Amino acid sequence: MRASVIGLGKLGASMAAAIASRGFQVVGVDVLKSNVEALNNGQAPVAETGLAAMVAAHKQRIKATTSHREAVLNSDISFCIVPTPSDERGAFSLQYASWAFKEMGAALREKKDYHLIVLTSTVLPGSCRYGLIPILEEASGKKCGKDFGFCYSPEFIALGSIIEDFLNPDFTLVGEFDERSGATLEEAYRGIVANGAPCQRMTLENAELAKVALNSFVTMKITFANVLADICEHLPGGDVDRVTNAIGLDQRIGQQYLKGGLGFGGPCFPRDNVAFRFIAQALGSESRISRTTVEINHSVAEKMIERLRPYAARNATVAFLGLAYKPFTQVVEESQSVTIADAISKAGARVVAYDPLANESARTQLSGTIVFAQSVKEALSGADVVVISTADPEFKALKASDFKNGNRKVTVIDCWRLLDQELTGCKWVEYLPLGRATESDASVDVLRGLWESKRPDQPNA
Ligand SMILES: NC(=O)c1ccc[n+]([C@@H]2O[C@H](COP(=O)([O-])OP(=O)(O)OC[C@H]3O[C@@H](n4cnc5c(N)ncnc54)[C@H](O)[C@@H]3O)[C@@H](O)[C@H]2O)c1
Repeated sequence: MRASVIGLGKLGASMAAAIASRGFQVVGVDVLKSNVEALNNGQAPVAETGLAAMVAAHKQRIKATTSHREAVLNSDISFCIVPTPSDERGAFSLQYASWAFKEMGAALREKKDYHLIVLTSTVLPGSCRYGLIPILEEASGKKCGKDFGFCYSPEFIALGSIIEDFLNPDFTLVGEFDERSGATLEEAYRGIVANGAPCQRMTLENAELAKVALNSFVTMKITFANVLADICEHLPGGDVDRVTNAIGLDQRIGQQYLKGGLGFGGPCFPRDNVAFRFIAQALGSESRISRTTVEINHSVAEKMIERLRPYAARNATVAFLGLAYKPFTQVVEESQSVTIADAISKAGARVVAYDPLANESARTQLSGTIVFAQSVKEALSGADVVVISTADPEFKALKASDFKNGNRKVTVIDCWRLLDQELTGCKWVEYLPLGRATESDASVDVLRGLWESKRPDQPNA
């Protein structure tokens, strides 16, 4: 089977390389000439873990073009993975996909053999059947389910591990227009995925819902861990990791995405939650849980801003270690670290920031007064407060001596508790791990007040 991939961005370029690595001939298409040229030169058009090596290793099986026609005519199956940005309603816009579908439809008109179109981009229920398939039918003059096939098949990947996740998924999700389309894609996945993952086949609408439901559920789980972290800060001896590590062992819960820290961000989680709520409401249902998840997520950043405000009022120097929404990526979209750094800078702090990958992308989002350090060492020098905002291995490798700042005591707010072994009890550091109790008598008194009077030896108290 020959495959084409329409859209060679973060996900599409990785998919093209991964599919080629499994022995398929792949034609990639992008409207951006630079992406096309990069692939044709055996180079990665975007930064993603393992992509450059994989493209170089399989370049003889990858060809890129700006022509949708060439791609469709020279393949049996086309995966379309163009942007579906959020629109003003909180839904996903079909603007880019519509254009790509029109081009693919025109190519289908000329095609004699059966061809399967697969939409991989994230869309909401109804988008495929009522928004996009009619474009294919009109442009091709053919009937879906008769002359060509169609599936909706989103991927459950994370930036930084796209290739690994794509080749080794927990399951593949196939929303099918008809039986033949679903069977063709299931067969293709048998050759593409490396781990024999089971295929879940269903209607287009169920698959469209499943995609946003999964991400919304994960954000709910992250948020629950953050709620626990907050409770632990008020619980005598509270330690969020003790609690989440234990409850995560229960198979009903599981440990992934169950770590208290900063809130979620990035290009998918926040907008998928909003879109999930949008479609629920549009269908006359409700998803109050999504609204609450988003509200609590914002409050995590707000709480950190309040925590830092007194330092800003003193014009202290606050260093941020980590700007991306998570480690191993340069993406800063909806990153809480960026939101907090910006607010604290505007409140009067001198902000110095460092991220191993995301300095340049953060520069475009943050105001001119923030200083970007070129190394951790540079960020730490002269800092009164250090916020460790991503769990990057580079930060975990820091030593207590790296925080020495003359005779001044440095406050370290460690959102992921990377340095508790190293910094707890360190004389020149005030160490504040998120999700751990501080020595507050107030909460002891709260618990005592709740229970002491109910002791059996004090019946009248
Ligand atoms: N990035 C993620 O982590 C992730 C995860 C799951 C799902 N998704 C979904 O995948 C889709 C793409 O995401 P991405 O991060 O790869 O986007 P991206 O912006 O990195 O890449 C999209 C690419 O499509 C190209 N393009 C736009 N219109 C085109 C057209 N008509 N024909 C051919 N190419 C076209 C763009 O030039 C760009 O290179 C979105 O729907 C997104 O929601 C992304």
